[in-house]
Amino acid sequence: MTDRLILGIESSCDETGVGIVRLGPDGAVELLADEVASSVEEHARFGGVVPEVASRAHLEAMVPTMRRAVEKAGVELRDVHSIAVTAGPGLAGALLVGVSAAKAYAAALDKPLYGVNHLAGHVAADTLQHGPLPKRCLALLVSGGHSQLLMVEGLAERITELGSTVDDAAGEAYDKVARLLDLPYPGGPPIDKLAKQGNGCAIAFPRGLTGPRDAKYDFSFSGLKTSVARWVERQERAGEEIPLADVAASFQEAVADVLTAKAIRACKDLGVDTLVISGGVAANSRLSGLAAERCAEAGIELRVPRPRLCTDNGAMIAALGAHLVAAGAQPSPMDLSTTPGLPV
Ligand code: KG4
Ligand code: ZN
Repeated sequence: MTDRLILGIESSCDETGVGIVRLGPDGAVELLADEVASSVEEHARFGGVVPEVASRAHLEAMVPTMRRAVEKAGVELRDVHSIAVTAGPGLAGALLVGVSAAKAYAAALDKPLYGVNHLAGHVAADTLQHGPLPKRCLALLVSGGHSQLLMVEGLAERITELGSTVDDAAGEAYDKVARLLDLPYPGGPPIDKLAKQGNGCAIAFPRGLTGPRDAKYDFSFSGLKTSVARWVERQERAGEEIPLADVAASFQEAVADVLTAKAIRACKDLGVDTLVISGGVAANSRLSGLAAERCAEAGIELRVPRPRLCTDNGAMIAALGAHLVAAGAQPSPMDLSTTPGLPV
């Protein structure tokens, strides 16, 4: 069997992504192009993603992004073997743009179409940097839209959700706390930067859902965000200066502590020795640092893809598509729909 080119289209949130990978006869996957057009700046003044704005931005960016990816990869669209697209979870209108585009390309080129799960795509992203996943691994997905702990027993075979956030996603907590500290959106990068000058032990912010009777693998960040807000208010009322760097570092410490503790506990409970951390928040320096420390202590191999692969992109969808093609999975019907609330 010869090489097969797999195209991946992503449009579940505010990133229009088109990726192209080459699937070798031996199952090896090579990244050829990873083009992303982001509408994040358009959402910045609203302090969060505005669905209508995101859909319109996808509509404008889709074909130019596709053209850039094809040019970067140095391939012809007609030589593509299959087309994978995010069918959910995500914003309804945003998903429709990607799925419609994927169908149009699949129909015009007469190629098979694979509607795939965005969360599985985030896990697949890691294979582009670190190669195939072991038979069993755990994945911690942390972004603006999700905070999930997944048991992965084959990307095409079985992914089970062990836990997720009961309220805000980890990235959402970063964005909300940044807002109350008057930092720009998205809040992760400025908090990460500011925290480097602060003391993470300065303020003991709560660790959500870590009590003995709490769900072992679920997360909660809303109480933490409220606690930061109350602490800042109290300081203001008392006429005290707000030690911004300490607040940022202490908030960041609470998030990193809970995420890594729960992920490592799950690895130990389930006898898994590999942990993948992906999603925009995986770019956080304290999260990756603490995870590296704790994984080393526990004898767990830690895999964190580079930031570009952690945030939403089309390459991860192409990588997942390649995995499905290699596994001989059935393509999706051409009446494929989108599922905004798609479970993993
Ligand atoms: O994966 P992503 O680009 O988009 C989705 O939400 O799917 O993740 C974006 C989120 C934002 O909430 C942003 O604040 C957060 O990831 N983020 C970070 C960092 N960089 C991005 N959070 C903490 N530390 C960072 N360095
Ligand atoms: Zn995502």
